[in-house]
Amino acid sequence: MSSFETKIKEALAQPRNQGELEDADAVGTVGSPECGDMLRMWLKFTEKDGKRVIDRASFQAFGCQTAIAVASMATELLRGKTIEEAKHLSVHELTGNLGPLPPMKIHCGQLVEGALRNALDNDAGMEIQVASPSGTMAPTLSSALQRKAGGTLRIVPID
Ligand code: FES
Repeated sequence: MSSFETKIKEALAQPRNQGELEDADAVGTVGSPECGDMLRMWLKFTEKDGKRVIDRASFQAFGCQTAIAVASMATELLRGKTIEEAKHLSVHELTGNLGPLPPMKIHCGQLVEGALRNALDNDAGMEIQVASPSGTMAPTLSSALQRKAGGTLRIVPID
């Protein structure tokens, strides 16, 4: 097993920050046209030294193991970052200790980067909300995706 595969396996053994962040300030969702996988990221902000910084980040993925491992790593790395700092993080930086992604897996990291950017773009707006027919918010990405068409879910394809 390559060292990359070993690191992915280790990250998956204890994935961090999985699941919806109930009191999130921003949420972003992307789908990969390359493989059809999807990822949603939630962000919660706080004030530190007069700056707005990321307090917590979480994710939910319908994606491969690499996307889950990168999202787990990235949501840890995002803590304490300002919005500007977070916006400029590259896929390579978001993978942290996992190291560089193999060429075939770069789009998996881009899925995480795309969800982060989408959430930052939607900061304070919570524009990507999925209303259920009763008007309440769909509780999870899974339920959001299973609901019938006609809602307000907007999926932003990554480049
Ligand atoms: Fe689609 Fe990894 S194969 S995100």
